Amino acid sequence: MLALAILLQIFPNVLSCGKLRRRIQERRLLEDDAQEKISTTMPVAKEIQNLAATWKQSGQENIDKQLEAAGLGWAKRKIAVNLSTTVTFSFPDDDTFHVDFTTKVMSKKEKFSISKVTKHKNFLDEDVESELFIEDGHLVMVTRGGSPGEIRTVRIVEGDKLTIKTTVVKKNVTGIRYFERQK
Ligand SMILES: *[C@@H]1O[C@H](CO)[C@@H](O)[C@H](O)[C@H]1NC(C)=O
Ligand SMILES: *[C@@H]1O[C@H](CO)[C@@H](O)[C@H](O)[C@H]1NC(C)=O
Repeated sequence: MLALAILLQIFPNVLSCGKLRRRIQERRLLEDDAQEKISTTMPVAKEIQNLAATWKQSGQENIDKQLEAAGLGWAKRKIAVNLSTTVTFSFPDDDTFHVDFTTKVMSKKEKFSISKVTKHKNFLDEDVESELFIEDGHLVMVTRGGSPGEIRTVRIVEGDKLTIKTTVVKKNVTGIRYFERQK
C-alpha cells in the first residue's frame, strides 16, 4: 500500500489514466471492509456489560451548576434539574451502545459506536462528536465540538447502583446523578 502511494506521488500522470488507480481504490475499499469486520466481531467488553438495564434516577448532586456550565439557560435548567430520569442502556450488537432516555417532558434514543467516533447533536442542537472508551473498568464518553467544549461522561455500575458523572471539562464542573436498577 505504501509503495503504491509513493508510486502515485512520483507518477501521478501515468496513473491517473490507468487501471492501476482503480485497483488502488478497490484495494482501499477492501481494507476498509476488513477493518470494519475486525471491530464488529470484537465482543462488548465484560466490564461494561452490566450497564445493560433500565435505571431509574434516585438522587443527584450539582446538576444545576453542571447544566449552567454546559450553557443551558435558567428557564430550561429549572425544568431539567427536577426531572427524574429513567434510562435504558443496551448493546444491540457488538459495536453499538444504545441509550434510551425518558423524562416526563422528553424522551430520546441515541446510538453510539463503540469503536468509532459518532456524530450527533447535543442538547443545544449543535453538531458534536462522541467517542467511547473504557477507563478503570467504566464506560467513558467524551463529546467534543459543541459550544460548552469537551463534555466527559463516566458511567459507574456497582451492583444495582449506577452513578453517572458528567463534567464540563474546561470549567471543571461535575454533576452527578444516581440511579437504581429496575427489575
Ligand atoms: C426541585 O428541586 C428542588 C431542590 O432539590 C426541591 O426543593 C423542589 O421541591 C423540587 N421541585 C419539584 C417540583 O420537584
Ligand atoms: C476540579 O475541581 C475539583 C473539585 O471539584 C478539584 O479537586 C480539582 O483539583 C479541580 N481540577 C482542576 C484541574 O482545576
